[in-house]
Amino acid sequence: MIILGIETSCDETSIAILENEKIIVNKTYSQIEEHSSFGGVVPEIASRAHLEKIDKLAIACFTEAKINIEDIDLIAVTDGPGLAGALLIGISFGLGIHTARNIKITGINHLEGHIYSVFFDNPDIEFPFLALIVSGGHTSLYLVNSPFEYKCLGETVDDAAGEAFDKVGKLLGFSYPAGKEIEEEAKKFSGTSKELPSFSIARCSQGELFFSFSGLKTAVKYFINNKSPLEIKKVRPAICYSFQKTIVDSLVRNANKAAEKSGVNRIALVGGVACNSVLRERLEKEFSGKVYLPSKKFCTDNAAMIALAGFHRFTLDKIRKPHMRPSLPL
Ligand code: KG4
Ligand code: ZN
Repeated sequence: MIILGIETSCDETSIAILENEKIIVNKTYSQIEEHSSFGGVVPEIASRAHLEKIDKLAIACFTEAKINIEDIDLIAVTDGPGLAGALLIGISFGLGIHTARNIKITGINHLEGHIYSVFFDNPDIEFPFLALIVSGGHTSLYLVNSPFEYKCLGETVDDAAGEAFDKVGKLLGFSYPAGKEIEEEAKKFSGTSKELPSFSIARCSQGELFFSFSGLKTAVKYFINNKSPLEIKKVRPAICYSFQKTIVDSLVRNANKAAEKSGVNRIALVGGVACNSVLRERLEKEFSGKVYLPSKKFCTDNAAMIALAGFHRFTLDKIRKPHMRPSLPL
């Protein structure tokens, strides 16, 4: 079957066409230029940029795949969580094709899409498994008991991990999104541990599997408060190294605790922050060979993962009508 995937939940406009589980085409327009001067995503600008790009992107996909609209058997569209105005563009686009051409459609939870991104490179992943979802908008730990059966074990009580990377990046003079640049800057640190600033993570009253990253951002802010731009530039690799290590420590610690509590020792690491090599390596070490990683191109938002989740929903007779829900729980 041919599946059309649509993803517009935040600042990536993405369209994909899959034949069953195989990607024929997957095109993403990242709105980096639109938001970079603001240091973060501006919802209204995101929505307008999706509207400008979505039809051109879809036409480019159909042309490259040599597929006509009538060949589509299923439309899979992200219907939450995400920015309301941004979701609205993708959902309206999908529903328009669904209504005009009488093609089946299903809504897909964006986090479910991230979880399914891992299946491209690990099609034989066994249930149950843990899923650590770390992106610009989310940081959550789920137990995936069986297909489409999720239990939230813990999540962030304030900023998401990617959001912390982006906000600290802004403080240090990096452009948005700053995760990759912080990782690169941390590699430049060549001193001893005594030269590293010490940052810590707050414990959460909600439970030991919950995360909190907003205090870490404030700690970095205080650390650079009275320093000149030149001084900041000098200590930047040390700040990035310590900041990144503190985030990775927190994510890995909670993942370990989740494994201990649930008795499940297989884990999928997904979402934009899963591009981070230090996090990937640490988790692989801790879960010795039981870590499922998407290739980096599938970590950040893309429509191929939405289409794949749609394919699996269809095969299990679990497709559902899309409804725009900015805070749709998994
Ligand atoms: O999954 P994603 O594309 O969007 C959301 O659903 O939020 O994730 C984007 C996030 C950004 O915050 C970005 O800074 C972060 O992923 N990111 C990274 C790295 N590459 C992207 N964070 C840390 N290290 C990286 N290498
Ligand atoms: Zn995402």
